[in-house]
Amino acid sequence: MYGLVNKAVEDLVVSRYGEDMWARIQEQAGVDAVGFVSMEAYPDEVTYKLVGAASEVLGRPPAALLEAFGEHWILYTARQGYGELMAMFGASMREFLGNLDNMHTRVGLSFPQLRPPSFVVRDAGPRTLELEYHSRREGLAPMVVGLLKGLARGFSEEVAVEHVHGRDRDGFDLFRVELQAAA
Ligand code: HEM
Repeated sequence: MYGLVNKAVEDLVVSRYGEDMWARIQEQAGVDAVGFVSMEAYPDEVTYKLVGAASEVLGRPPAALLEAFGEHWILYTARQGYGELMAMFGASMREFLGNLDNMHTRVGLSFPQLRPPSFVVRDAGPRTLELEYHSRREGLAPMVVGLLKGLARGFSEEVAVEHVHGRDRDGFDLFRVELQAAA
């Protein structure tokens, strides 16, 4: 994945646990400590190794870290100058989720080797959505839960997210998203 992703993992770890912990995680992962370049594509293996090593060093399950990472990604990309781009694709959570594929297509203009996920959103009630997550990568469903929570915060909404089924059924992950206005 692009260096931007690995740098966001680094930013999450450093902001919560400090530089020394990041150095230990990099060492445990066997990943070169020189630093990542945001616009350069790295093998997916690098990201998976970093998450695996972070899980071992911090003693937290990979799923918990991926969820925290998803939430952090929304803040991190906004700080890296992608906030305006995100704002162009929807003024509400519902609208934005419907535009996620268009947004990643737009992102792909700057990141030509992007292999983005794909999402299908359906209304399943007045404040309930069903979201299909299609990906060529394994194991990232917990990240989607965090992304949805981070997005909701950005729209001053609150969400309850249920992972209805994994990709072993139908080839995609399905989420049920309940939207509430934030108190
Ligand atoms: C402007 C904001 C965003 C940017 C710049 C961005 C960019 C990226 C990049 C660079 C990757 C790595 C893929 C690769 O290197 O091939 C990625 C992956 C991903 N993005 Fe986005 N993204 C943004 C917002 C979002 C949002 C809001 C969601 C919400 C659901 C999302 C969902 C994902 C997921 C789940 C992946 C993991 C890859 C996979 O499943 O195969 N992204 N994105």
